[in-house]
Amino acid sequence: MIVVRTINELASVLGPGVETGLVTTMGAFHEGHLTLMRSAATECERSVVSLFVNPSQFAPGEDLSTYPSQEATDIELAGSAGVDILFAPSVEEMYKDNVTWVEVNELTDNYEGKARPSHFRGVATVVLKLFNLISPQRAYFGLKDLQQCAVVRRMVADLNLKIDLRFLETVREEDGLAMSSRNRYLLPAERALAARINGALGVVAQQVKSGVSLDEALDLGRAHLEEVGIKPDYLESVDWHSMTATKILRDDSRVIVAAKVGQVRLLDNIPLVTH
Ligand code: PAJ
Repeated sequence: MIVVRTINELASVLGPGVETGLVTTMGAFHEGHLTLMRSAATECERSVVSLFVNPSQFAPGEDLSTYPSQEATDIELAGSAGVDILFAPSVEEMYKDNVTWVEVNELTDNYEGKARPSHFRGVATVVLKLFNLISPQRAYFGLKDLQQCAVVRRMVADLNLKIDLRFLETVREEDGLAMSSRNRYLLPAERALAARINGALGVVAQQVKSGVSLDEALDLGRAHLEEVGIKPDYLESVDWHSMTATKILRDDSRVIVAAKVGQVRLLDNIPLVTH
């Protein structure tokens, strides 16, 4: 695996005419990241991973300065996942005197977009920059960050980008907790409670399957959290392509949840329709 840090170096190692799969990341790799990388490495002639903790998607007071960093370990992990090129630029290299921003409206009005008002503008901007720098034919994203998937999907459609997007299901710990770089900040008692987040989604899906109305099932899901003192920021059902409330169950209907456990904001979602 080649590690490059500048846009010039990147351009010189990216010869044209090679089918390329891209995985964008902020590092601190876990099995979720590695699954995306292995898919890119297996399905594409060349796989590229970006490792860049993107300051523009963090608001003042969020955890930019404490975001986990383990570059030497990440380089080894990406190498063993079969990645060909790791692009790890500096903030200066990526942003210089940047004044141009990408806004994906409407589907960022609620949920994470509401909780973190400039977050998706930062995400869309850096993802578009990485798409332009790397010119992948395919790009891989984890459904764990569902609204992020919706934003990227819509940006690619609206800006007519010729990129095939792959959305992969969430990789979980044994007790169901969605893997996340931030899980390491949970204290042991919080870590034990955190499994309830996925448990609550399971309650909703199970209740809907057994014929309970969606509204009632969502209430039971919320109660599953509140029972142990977790106050969900939201627990709703959405059609994820539009991030609007589910009226009739469709293939893209999912239950989504966000809740703080201790100091850590945890996100999760699962499909409502399974075939
Ligand atoms: P990061 O949180 O590092 O995640 C990188 C990619 O890994 C994203 O597509 C994310 O959805 C996926 N991922 C995270 N946890 C996962 C899990 N448990 N299972 C499957 N996939 C998982 O998301 C970002 O970085 C940034 O916002 C980024 C897109 C890189 C833009 O800065």
